[in-house]
Amino acid sequence: MCIDGFRFAWGRTEAAGWKGDELEYAVAVEVLEFRTADLIGRTMLVFGPPRNVAGRWKFDSEDAPMGDGMFAGKVAMVTGGGSGIGRATALALAREGASVLVGDLNEAGANEAATAIREAGGKAAAVRLDVADGQSVADAVAAARSAFGGLHVGVNCAGVTLAGDLLLDVSEAQFDQVMAINLKGTWWCLRAQIPAIIESGGGAIVNISSTMGLVAGPRSSSYIASKHGIIGLTKAASIEYSSQGVRVNAVCPGGTATPMISDQVRAALVPLHPIGRISEPEEIAAAILFLASPAASFITGVALPVDGGWTSH
Ligand SMILES: NC(=O)c1ccc[n+]([C@@H]2O[C@H](COP(=O)([O-])OP(=O)(O)OC[C@H]3O[C@@H](n4cnc5c(N)ncnc54)[C@H](O)[C@@H]3O)[C@@H](O)[C@H]2O)c1
Repeated sequence: MCIDGFRFAWGRTEAAGWKGDELEYAVAVEVLEFRTADLIGRTMLVFGPPRNVAGRWKFDSEDAPMGDGMFAGKVAMVTGGGSGIGRATALALAREGASVLVGDLNEAGANEAATAIREAGGKAAAVRLDVADGQSVADAVAAARSAFGGLHVGVNCAGVTLAGDLLLDVSEAQFDQVMAINLKGTWWCLRAQIPAIIESGGGAIVNISSTMGLVAGPRSSSYIASKHGIIGLTKAASIEYSSQGVRVNAVCPGGTATPMISDQVRAALVPLHPIGRISEPEEIAAAILFLASPAASFITGVALPVDGGWTSH
């Protein structure tokens, strides 16, 4: 069986059940052939309908054991890792074997996420990080290298939203703050991570944009500008550094159930998603892991909507 360039040996069926009106199997498979030698011989769990197990990788259980997955031996850094999408991504990377540096302005949040990873048997360290400060970002990359010996994956998730005011009512200070964290913060991360990843033998960066990086809406002009800018930075960096072994992609989440958005906003967002609900952070993390993984080895410079169909309108 071949999926995305992997050749698998069929393994045991772990579980089967109905998903909607389709029967879905979870099958443990052994990787027989892949360009990245360190995946060969590993067991991975894939699931989907019986004739198309190329459905989805399984990343989404908080209880799944930490350890020996497709990021084994790799070092990852997640900004904004103390909450929401960043926290879910840090846990998922650790579950797949990565050593994870969790960075966040909220040091307590970063510590909690790193502790959760370690208590589950994974490898993690935490730092206080302000992505709006270039020195702080450089220090975090240095901390990842000194704790774990390199850097292969950067996930740039730290962000703030400023919603509510019309463009004419947003102050210069508010506009500058959103830009400094969301857009310039991503720029600082790229500047620090790219050389570290090249020196570590290559890897991938995933920047977190938004559906608001692809389309616009009212009363979010600074956020929308910053998220469109992140896609521009992603494309530019991919053109300049992919040939040196650093793939750079962006994920554009739709509404996601994190502390960033209130219950009221969540309810208002649901009708925008043809799938009929907003996302869980783990569903965004799964897309981030895909883009960071060898399964996406020929993908660079894309802005992937993970938005329940929002931008198909
Ligand atoms: N939740 C959504 O609906 C949604 C939708 C699209 C995109 N996003 C994007 O996803 C990313 C993660 O957001 P989330 O929903 O998980 O929100 P969240 O508020 O749960 O997490 C954001 C994290 O970023 C941290 N942070 C803020 N400023 C920082 C700084 N200067 N330096 C370092 N860390 C900082 C916060 O402390 C927080 O832990 C953001 O970039 C956000 O714009 C979220």
